[in-house]
Amino acid sequence: MQRQEFLSKLGISLAAVCIGCNLASCGSDVKMEDPTPTTPTTPGATLATLDLNSDLKNVGESTVSNKIIIVRLAAGNTSDAFTAVSVACTHQGTSINYNPSQGKFICPNHGSQFSTTGSVLLGPAVTPLQEFKIAITGSSLIVTA
Ligand code: FES
Repeated sequence: MQRQEFLSKLGISLAAVCIGCNLASCGSDVKMEDPTPTTPTTPGATLATLDLNSDLKNVGESTVSNKIIIVRLAAGNTSDAFTAVSVACTHQGTSINYNPSQGKFICPNHGSQFSTTGSVLLGPAVTPLQEFKIAITGSSLIVTA
């Protein structure tokens, strides 16, 4: 094999290897977070249950169960004394927190704010949080889709 022929074949081989590297890594460079809630939402399905004898006894308390944040907004064991929304921020999926002094949910990542019913008060999020239904039976709080 002539020197020029050898170098030519080597160049083609290296080019093929480099193209292969680029193609192989192409998929791994694309990394997008999926803020879509993964909580099942079959209508009527029970998604979380709390015991009000031990959970959420004080106004402003919150807890997370099955990717749902449940908050006591007022005294008394009636369904309107609580709210339940998806805990995943609709911007990029970070878990939101309830701020009792401001009466709203705040995302610690980029600062989106949501009302107690999940509507967007401040971006960058533009999509409301999913709100769930609450029923009280005895001392049990039941969250349903
Ligand atoms: S992830 Fe919540 S504001 Fe960006």
